[in-house]
Amino acid sequence: MEAASLAAEEKTGSLRHVAIIMDGNGRWAECHGLPRLRGHIVGVDSARSTIRYLNNGYQLKYLTLYGFSTENWNRSQDEVGGIFRVFEEVVGGMSQELHKEGVRLRHLGRLEELPQSLQQEMNKAIKLTENNTGMTLGFAFSYGGRNEILDAVRRILAEGIPPQNIDEELFSRFLYTTGMPDVDLLIRTGGELRISNFLIWQSAYSEYYFTDVLWPDFDEKEIDKALLAYRQRQRRFGGL
Ligand code: FPP
Repeated sequence: MEAASLAAEEKTGSLRHVAIIMDGNGRWAECHGLPRLRGHIVGVDSARSTIRYLNNGYQLKYLTLYGFSTENWNRSQDEVGGIFRVFEEVVGGMSQELHKEGVRLRHLGRLEELPQSLQQEMNKAIKLTENNTGMTLGFAFSYGGRNEILDAVRRILAEGIPPQNIDEELFSRFLYTTGMPDVDLLIRTGGELRISNFLIWQSAYSEYYFTDVLWPDFDEKEIDKALLAYRQRQRRFGGL
């Protein structure tokens, strides 16, 4: 094994896929006497530094960020519109930088439900980075775990696959995350103790890490803490 990948292996061990529920932007803004949208804008800086640190520092292979759930559509039109504008700027503004770092961008969810201009930025970024071999970064925008499973069932039926051929491996190939390994570590910031319909199939055997730290305050030190906690867990996948 080459020195670089040996170092990465030592740092991440069995850790291949980290998924993050970036919660607490709104409360962070309120605590600082700022409008909620400001929290999302500062949250982007956290996302950017998290991506960079996990890619360059840890050489992590798969990272999925939960940006917007199908349930988030229930927020005020103002906030939803503001979040989408932020995403558009993130995807547009970060794609060159991600490309240079060898990151491959994917979208997880129902892209067709997002505003046209965001869809276009997303598709451009996906195309630009599709042949990269570094970290695969999944942006879960307009994502819902139950919808993902229903979409997979619909596609399996539409393809006429016989029931006896459907096993876990085949089913996984019909999920938005096709080709990505199951989640090893699921992190949620912002103090809530739930997974909110995020990657519910892929996190069946994940380790969970919950922290009260609000997303805009989640920095490299907090990432180190989460990854250290993961290393201290014993994963048995139902065995002894
Ligand atoms: C959760 O905070 C955050 C969101 C629903 C918005 C999306 C996340 C960002 C803008 C961060 C950057 C994203 C990417 C992919 C680069 P909340 O509004 O639920 O906070 P609250 O629980 O304090 O109200």
